[in-house]
Amino acid sequence: MPATADLEFLSVPREPSTGDTGRAASLISETEHRFRVHTAAYTKAEVLELEQQHIFRRAWCYVGHESELTKAGDFKTGHIGDQPILVTRSEDGGIHVMLNRCPHRGAVLCREPGGNRRALICPYHAWTFAIDGRLVSVTGRDDASGYSEFFEAPEGLYRVPRIETYRGFVFATLDAKAPALLDSLGRAKILIDRKLNQSPNGTLTIRSKPYVGIYEGNWKFHAENIIDGYHFMYTHQSFVKLQNKFGDTTGDFGVHKGGSASEMKKIRTRGSVWGCEGGHILNQKPAIDTQEMLSGPFAEYYQSIEKLYGAEEFQWIFGSNAGCIFPNFGMIHNQIRTWRPIAPDKTEVRIYLYDLDGAPPAFNEGMLRSQERFYGPSGHGMPDDIEIFAANQQGLSASQLEWLILERGMAAEKPLGDGDIEGLPSSETGHRAFWRAWRRSLSSGSGQ
Ligand code: FES
Ligand SMILES: [Fe+2]
Repeated sequence: MPATADLEFLSVPREPSTGDTGRAASLISETEHRFRVHTAAYTKAEVLELEQQHIFRRAWCYVGHESELTKAGDFKTGHIGDQPILVTRSEDGGIHVMLNRCPHRGAVLCREPGGNRRALICPYHAWTFAIDGRLVSVTGRDDASGYSEFFEAPEGLYRVPRIETYRGFVFATLDAKAPALLDSLGRAKILIDRKLNQSPNGTLTIRSKPYVGIYEGNWKFHAENIIDGYHFMYTHQSFVKLQNKFGDTTGDFGVHKGGSASEMKKIRTRGSVWGCEGGHILNQKPAIDTQEMLSGPFAEYYQSIEKLYGAEEFQWIFGSNAGCIFPNFGMIHNQIRTWRPIAPDKTEVRIYLYDLDGAPPAFNEGMLRSQERFYGPSGHGMPDDIEIFAANQQGLSASQLEWLILERGMAAEKPLGDGDIEGLPSSETGHRAFWRAWRRSLSSGSGQ
């Protein structure tokens, strides 16, 4: 077994230092045939503080999609790690990402999840900011008890220093020196491309508010699970049984298609997992029967996509693509997901469903209905995962057993280039890439 990690610092409350990041990195034990993660990586508040500093405040984090902010004055609130943020659209069409904090005495400026405003007025003393964050007015500035001629008013809200958009997906980073977004995404950008290429227009639209859930477990359980090709047949046994009994109850939209346990198992042996250098993970499976698609009820639509990208790529575009972009963004089926740690044992997940622009309305509708059967509070599948995250966290309180085992498929990996690795579909290849990026971030103080 790996040696006990150097955990002394975890019980000593003090400001994290470079030394602490080095010792946190020792929470992963890796040799040629072994890969183990220490329990403390999921349970200790000190580790979460280091993650906030060295991962969430450095990496490119997903903050929203352009279709959520179509008009001037539209805004949404959210977080980059533990930093509350405000994303807005100004009159000139620009998108702005700012801290949701009044520079006067700290009040949160916008308390609702989103909406439209002409200006941002602080609820405490009514300082007013333009929708792009500029300070417009200070109430009572010239009162007898107001500010003197020496008052240096702030320019406005604190701007997150870097914002970049890729095909409508808005990412931001608090690290002014971060590499370009596309360099950071690397090979993993194909996740976004293949999802968008399902649309004849190459775009998508989020039409509804997110489904927001909070679970009693560490944030990394979610990042690991969204691409986990190992658990489905076991965690979701009740769903598999339903399929066995009633046939394909999920509809014919590629969402957990199968109809029988053996078919579902067969699907899960297709494709591969990519574990990328940047910590991103993709689990990709080609479509089962493209001929059926190209001649079925949505033939015209499918044919138009095949014509655009060719037969080989078509089977991947309409296969099953799930991915995690390090650290807080995922896509699965027609969902965008983002997650943030609230505490070591508490995580918020936001799920946004989208329509594929230009796809037949009946197709978008079918995808939506299919989603409802598996995800959401009354779905047949997602509650299983949430239950497991809580069970994992509870299990980790048995801390006499120190290490978790993430070695599946280690012997059958192939390099893809640029430090990316390909593994078998139910391997933990992607998990290991995630954890290596995690370790690198904590060791070097860089999230990239
Ligand atoms: S805290 Fe915002 S105006 Fe005073
Ligand atoms: Fe699951």
